[in-house]
Amino acid sequence: MSELNNIVLKILENGKGILAADESTGTMTKRLETVKVPSTKENRLLFRETLFSASGMTNCIGGVILYDETIKQETSKKSMVPELISNMGSLPGIKVDTGAKALAGSDNEKITEGLDGLRERLKEYYKLGAKFTKWRGVYNISKTCPSKISIHANAHALARYSSLVQECNMVPIVEPEVLMEGDHSASECYEKTSEVIQKCFDELILHKVDLKGIILKPNMILAGNKHKDKISNEEVAKLTLKCLKSSVPSEVPGIAFLSGGQSEIEATENLNLINKYNNTDFIMSYSYGRALQQSALKFWSKDIKDIEGTQKVFNHRAKMNTLAAQAKWSKELEIG
Ligand code: 13P
Repeated sequence: MSELNNIVLKILENGKGILAADESTGTMTKRLETVKVPSTKENRLLFRETLFSASGMTNCIGGVILYDETIKQETSKKSMVPELISNMGSLPGIKVDTGAKALAGSDNEKITEGLDGLRERLKEYYKLGAKFTKWRGVYNISKTCPSKISIHANAHALARYSSLVQECNMVPIVEPEVLMEGDHSASECYEKTSEVIQKCFDELILHKVDLKGIILKPNMILAGNKHKDKISNEEVAKLTLKCLKSSVPSEVPGIAFLSGGQSEIEATENLNLINKYNNTDFIMSYSYGRALQQSALKFWSKDIKDIEGTQKVFNHRAKMNTLAAQAKWSKELEIG
């Protein structure tokens, strides 16, 4: 088994998932503003250190995606953040794209940037302890979107990124996110997500990326948030499985979903059903940002010194999702 495949399996073993704590400073500031906490470097670290030192990290969180600021920070106990994560039994990872910018030649679409100088930055992150990385391509659905240009350009960038990351002995998380914003139906989401994922794999294969050494981070198949009809959780799970089964090569060991604006419970329930019906060999787990942190952030904001209380809220969410990644979750477990 390759070293990269081992890292994937370690991150996703026994229902473990990934904590996506890689919000850029801009996004983190927005999150902190919603709970009325000033977005200082110290506060951003305090919230994150609170989560990273929670007991739930050890049995539930196989990897943490960090942002550039955080991977270089020292904790209150004077260790570096990646060391804290490793000591908790988890693996540190890093977001390496530099954000989605307007895509020339297309209306209202984005291309993710960050390839220039990436090899050098990867070497630095590797030295800082990163074992895996993340790059997110983003697509919206409308009458004309995602356009062929956006599907092609983002897949190309994801493949070049992945190839560089594997060259540096780290696992690339490949994240093509088809957004849920819009009035599209679930079947449009299914169609567009399939096209986007297939194009990503065409490019990954062209760029000789070792598919056994990647984690795919896709969206679930959902109706747009402004669509008149929502589909049931059962349908979400079945459509998501059908889409991934037909679009993802079987060499890929693991899939870790993003939550994409679903509520915490919805994201957990859908993951549980996906695993209940999983008729593939893919490990199906989570790589949640908002759906792992929302309640903890809200609780923390009431008293940012209440570390234990905040950790309790986070531990619960991590445990629920790890159960869902093993199809062992039920609604009753949410109470208490
Ligand atoms: P959400 O789970 O909040 O969608 O975040 C996951 C992520 O990493 C987006 O890039």
